[in-house]
Amino acid sequence: MSHEEIIKVSKAAAANTLTDATKASAIRAQAKDDPDGFWTDVAKRLDWSKPFTRVKDVSFDAKDLHIKWFDDGELNACVNCLDRHLPERANDIAIIWESDDPATAKHITYAEAFEETCRMANVLKARGVKRGDRVVIYMPMIPEAAYAMLACARIGAVHSVVFGGFSPEALASRIEDCGAVAVITADEGMRGGKAVPLKANVDKALGLKQHKTDVRLVLTVERTNATIPMTAGRDLYYYGEARNDVAPECPAEAMNAEDTLFILYTSGSTGKPKGVLHTTGGYLTYVSYTHEKVFDYRLGEIFWCTADVGWVTGHSYIVYGPLANGATTLIFEGVPTYPDASRFWQVIEKHQVNIFYTAPTALRALMREGDDMVKKADRSSLRLLGSVGEPINPEAWLWYYNVVGDGKHPIVDTWWQTETGGILISPLPGATDLKPGSATQPLPGVFPAIVDANGNFLDGACEGNLVITDSWPGQMRTVYGDHQRFIDTYFKTYPGMYFTGDGARRDADGYYWITGRVDDVINVSGHRMGTAEVEAAIDEHDAVVEAAVVGFPHDVKGQGIYAYVTLLAGVEPTEAMEKEIIDVVRREIGPIAKPDHIHFTPALPKTRSGKIMRRILRKIAENEFGALGDTSTLADPSVVDALIEGRKNR
Ligand code: PRX
Repeated sequence: MSHEEIIKVSKAAAANTLTDATKASAIRAQAKDDPDGFWTDVAKRLDWSKPFTRVKDVSFDAKDLHIKWFDDGELNACVNCLDRHLPERANDIAIIWESDDPATAKHITYAEAFEETCRMANVLKARGVKRGDRVVIYMPMIPEAAYAMLACARIGAVHSVVFGGFSPEALASRIEDCGAVAVITADEGMRGGKAVPLKANVDKALGLKQHKTDVRLVLTVERTNATIPMTAGRDLYYYGEARNDVAPECPAEAMNAEDTLFILYTSGSTGKPKGVLHTTGGYLTYVSYTHEKVFDYRLGEIFWCTADVGWVTGHSYIVYGPLANGATTLIFEGVPTYPDASRFWQVIEKHQVNIFYTAPTALRALMREGDDMVKKADRSSLRLLGSVGEPINPEAWLWYYNVVGDGKHPIVDTWWQTETGGILISPLPGATDLKPGSATQPLPGVFPAIVDANGNFLDGACEGNLVITDSWPGQMRTVYGDHQRFIDTYFKTYPGMYFTGDGARRDADGYYWITGRVDDVINVSGHRMGTAEVEAAIDEHDAVVEAAVVGFPHDVKGQGIYAYVTLLAGVEPTEAMEKEIIDVVRREIGPIAKPDHIHFTPALPKTRSGKIMRRILRKIAENEFGALGDTSTLADPSVVDALIEGRKNR
């Protein structure tokens, strides 16, 4: 089957689905013709303690930029995720936890999740955490990570989850930027049989002199019971010292729809990672709606999203979307290859997973392990497959479809971003014919367009830059502490439109094919990295004069990191130096930012005005020496010849 072939909606899938093609086009038409009516209906899926009367107040004009949804309504996200399910579903399973160790799993009911969340909320309150305070969550994938997020939401505190793979340095800069008063962590995490020293990392982060932090509380959940140092007055063991002393119920704060729910740091093309800020009403409406429609979620089904709660996918489709919908969400602590490469499929069999949502990079890695690893597990519970985080190549798509799904289940290739809060472009299973490698069409109420470099709209089949021309409720509201950066990054390139930073192609059927980032952001195994951030980390090495980082195509990771580095005169470019530089990147950011190649060079290609010509560096990293384009503005063309020689010899 070639990837241009269309996979028609199967009659069986359509018959089963909440949305068929006719209903879907009626919904799209309503969303376009009567957006306020459409979003009002959607928002009614939540419980509002004070109903909203205003739907949307938005301007994408850079001079008057504002984005507000349902802004006179009040609600609490935690109440919507837990309390409201109790009358009918207290004993239904909210969370299935699959530990790193395949012998351990837990089933947690809505009643239990409610009690645990309330207790954690009460502990935070007892230690003085208040509405509006920021709380950093640096946790492994354990149920307590979800309780921590929901506990913050319950008392009106703002959480900022930091991925457990980030280094103390990266953690400290996030704690500082958001002005956190508390950190919730675990003694250690477990991944692939190895312990991750989370609490020790928090201690290091809080001890770094170059970051000013105001953390008064480090709440530590006992995961492994490892012996760890505790700082008197600041550190508190959750189970050993706090949980049992507080009440199992905690009143929820009534929040305005536009009150902040969370801040999540993500990389941009320049500068430090930015704190993407999401608010309560619009975000929760949007993730609840998309979780149901995109995954065709039906009560009682087991939904498994393999992301980490440190990324937006974990926020929206492990915690908030599924729990708002009363779903059973699976939280997996481990990695796809431990104890062996059939782990994902074993977990699907063990917990009878119905809907499975993962990243192309994991699929590509597992594909290499052979079909037997998949086939030895019973996958008959599966009904729907999803993909997220990066473009999925048709080969991986077809493997997912034919081998994992036995050619029976729709794949939803979901395009979205930290900034968008939830899925914007995706098939609606049962309604949208599929094309391997295409995220297909915008969801109802989402209005993308493709523009050329000058911002002109392109019609029909075309390729250019992807923009969104109008707001949706899940859209980010600002960059925490830097509203101007929000305006400059997203609304200045193409005035009046939200610029995604992605390139896209639209085919003659109106299907979107995301081609990847068009800015200096790279996507390594579905993780977003700013090239500037990695360069700044490399520059921290004393022997480095200058570094330039670009992405290059990588079979498994999607993109790899290629770093060109210039050393001080007289310093030898040895293997030991390479290792030292990699260690600096691990220290400054974490292992996910580790360069795949370090290419030492006496000089970087620059224009006469001193600007590094990244386009050329990208081509050389891609091994595309014939297509360097215009090199006439180079100050010293011989630099390029030397780089090409160097690349060929690698
Ligand atoms: O380039 C797009 C890519 O991931 C970027 C967003 O990264 P992040 O904010 O970390 O969020 C990832 C999870 C939503 C986008 O700008 N991307 C995400 N999903 C897809 C994708 N590229 C192609 N196809 C997708 N389905």
